Amino acid sequence: MRVSAADLRESEAVLNPSARAWFRALPRDVQWHGLHVMHDLQHAGVDRPEVWAAALLHDAGKAVGPSGPLVRAFIVLARHLAPDWSTRRSQLDYRRARGIDRVLAIAYQHPQIAAEKAAECGCDPVTIDLIRRHQDRSGAETDPLLQVFQQIDDQN
Ligand SMILES: [Fe+2]
Ligand SMILES: [Fe+2]
Repeated sequence: MRVSAADLRESEAVLNPSARAWFRALPRDVQWHGLHVMHDLQHAGVDRPEVWAAALLHDAGKAVGPSGPLVRAFIVLARHLAPDWSTRRSQLDYRRARGIDRVLAIAYQHPQIAAEKAAECGCDPVTIDLIRRHQDRSGAETDPLLQVFQQIDDQN
């Protein structure tokens, strides 16, 4: 999992200065995933920089909490083995929650967390909207762009 200087330059061309600083401070795995989603969107013929920006930043909300393969495995297991218990964590205020409550709250709320930050950074409304809805399966049928975005995100 490498993020090269060329990758970072490419991301800088897409993001405004505040979003650029945010992207640079993200954990490597979140940067890497964002770059892959952006490249796959480009290969799929999506040529809109505001969509590329959403690709780069869509999972940045995860960075407010602990990350890594163990955390990801825990989230998948918890959702699978204890769906109701997990879903209740989606309602918690992640800023106050601690431990596994916090991990799950962030897992559920990461689109909203990143969308708020993108708005603070002055990102394009299309960027903010895609980030906010990237995990929302209910809206995809009527929105071809969101549908492509989610398909490519899932493949990565
Ligand atoms: Fe996500
Ligand atoms: Fe993602």
